[in-house]
Amino acid sequence: MRNSSLQVLMLLTFLCFLFIPLYMVSNQYETPPEETWRRTMLQQQEINTYTEQVYRMPDIQDETVDLRIVVIVFNRAYSLLRLLGSLNVAFYFGERVVLDIWIDRSKDGQIDENTYRIASEFQFKHGVKIVHNHTFHVGIYGQWLNTWTPKSNSSEIAVILEDDITVSPYFYKWLKIVHKKYDKLVEVNGYSLQGISIKHGIGSEGLLDAPFGNIVFLYPVIGTWGFSPNRRNWVKFRDWFEVMLQDDKFQPLVPNILPTSWYQTFIQTGKTEGMWSMWHIYHAWKSREYTVYPNFPDQWKESNTHPFTHESAHYPMNHLQGWVGVDVVGVMVHVHLDV
Ligand SMILES: *[C@@H]1O[C@H](CO)[C@@H](O)[C@H](O)[C@H]1NC(C)=O
Ligand SMILES: *[C@@H]1O[C@H](CO)[C@@H](O)[C@H](O)[C@H]1NC(C)=O
Repeated sequence: MRNSSLQVLMLLTFLCFLFIPLYMVSNQYETPPEETWRRTMLQQQEINTYTEQVYRMPDIQDETVDLRIVVIVFNRAYSLLRLLGSLNVAFYFGERVVLDIWIDRSKDGQIDENTYRIASEFQFKHGVKIVHNHTFHVGIYGQWLNTWTPKSNSSEIAVILEDDITVSPYFYKWLKIVHKKYDKLVEVNGYSLQGISIKHGIGSEGLLDAPFGNIVFLYPVIGTWGFSPNRRNWVKFRDWFEVMLQDDKFQPLVPNILPTSWYQTFIQTGKTEGMWSMWHIYHAWKSREYTVYPNFPDQWKESNTHPFTHESAHYPMNHLQGWVGVDVVGVMVHVHLDV
């Protein structure tokens, strides 16, 4: 008995000596991209914690902001200009608006000068504009996840906009209405500005087609062409993300949906740094949360060749009574193809 334990111990010791040097050798190779962005995110979160969200202007208190527009951009100066132009002609009803423009750095630390020039020269007519240079390259994860970090008692509405879209003049009207009406529902994690989306179930191709008569519908997959988080769920999602990030083995894979197969391809090609939304999709799936989309058939639908199907990824929201039929026409964002 004692003898065999000793043998096992000796074998283990031997194996350790064999593998530790191997491990050390393998660690000298270049860090894989996935590890790099995970590390970047952790680093950024640490900085955010230490600096108590330095990006806030000292004279602007959260509770005095009605709408915070978060624009994320890297080096597409022209796209940024187009988006900012559309923000200037939108309606804000005299409310207090803050426009945060976040410029990412390249991997070698450069801020694109043209983008910075457009951002800093732009005159926002409806509120305060703040241009933020990220302090290091944060990528699309850092841009989406660490630019809106509301205090727990903040009541501001935030909307995160990538640079390749323009907004409808009515986008804030839409956001005000849906936040007021649906924020209290625990399953609502946010509001999309996009009214059109592909279906994400494997084997269900084509565009989403919510039933006529529902002004909004719930969908399990986030729409990123303009997204306005429900604060409560966003905080929960970010906290969860911070925890999961530290587990290198964890991958946010949801069975039988297209984004998962895209993400798996990215894992193979080392490009997961481009698909932050997979984490949001996973979290929504686990917590049974949905994004509210607008459903304006005349505005959005190409042709109704795809009949409404009750696939798992598609929930009509007509059980929500009492929608006031306000003028929400034209809330859509336009997504531009950049060359
Ligand atoms: C941001 O970057 C631009 C372009 O490099 C630079 O001119 C500007 O001073 C920077 N701003 C801050 C606050 O660092
Ligand atoms: C929110 O909390 C901060 C401190 O964390 C406090 O100074 C502020 O008055 C609070 N605002 C509201 C509206 O409760």
